[in-house]
Amino acid sequence: MKDIEEYILAHIDPEPELLKKIDRETRAKMLHSNMNSGHLQGRFLVMITRMIEAKRVLEIGAFTGYSALCFAEGLREGGEVHTIEVNDELEDLLRANFKESEHGHKIKLHIGDAGVLVPTFRDESFDLAFLDADKEDYWHHYEALLPKIRKGGIVLVDNTLWYGKVTRKANSNDHATRAVQDFNDRVIKDNRVEKVILPLRDGVTFIRKK
Ligand SMILES: C[S@@+](CC[C@H](N)C(=O)[O-])C[C@H]1O[C@@H](n2cnc3c(N)ncnc32)[C@H](O)[C@@H]1O
Repeated sequence: MKDIEEYILAHIDPEPELLKKIDRETRAKMLHSNMNSGHLQGRFLVMITRMIEAKRVLEIGAFTGYSALCFAEGLREGGEVHTIEVNDELEDLLRANFKESEHGHKIKLHIGDAGVLVPTFRDESFDLAFLDADKEDYWHHYEALLPKIRKGGIVLVDNTLWYGKVTRKANSNDHATRAVQDFNDRVIKDNRVEKVILPLRDGVTFIRKK
């Protein structure tokens, strides 16, 4: 599997230097450093942003800013990424990372709980959203953000295979696995959207609003 990963990374667009640096520093300094989207998923996020010619992107869960910078890179001229991060200890680092990028000026950082902030985005219409926050609240965040997505817009939901644990019965105290399973079981019944799961990294559900 490692061979395949290395092969893929050698045959896709290279990771920009700043993103390499953010990835390296995240691994060196942060707890849960594997939360970064990383090279492969990051290039996928740029590609999808360009493919749908997104002008407005909403992200829930910024962490160290890797994925927000990928969306900003793929945006149409004049576009904006709104990213929400609940952990205020990440604010200075996020602002510094965005400032260092030629695309950082396109990013609006909102510090706070997406559960509170998303409903306050009135009359907003986004082309693309990325749901990448605490798994326990996935369904709640999804319900809040779907009305803010334009018809034909895309919602990407990260970690929907959850280390492969979704295929097995979860222990009653394994709240994250149960929440991801519950999310997946609800999305498949949601007639407002079309959906596919891509086995990219930890699973990305690709949802299109009808
Ligand atoms: C998986 S990381 C995000 C990784 C980032 N999207 C990337 O790919 O580089 C999840 C982040 O979501 C944040 N988060 C969790 N719950 C949240 C909430 N309710 N509102 C906003 N951010 C939240 C966490 O603090 C954490 O930084």
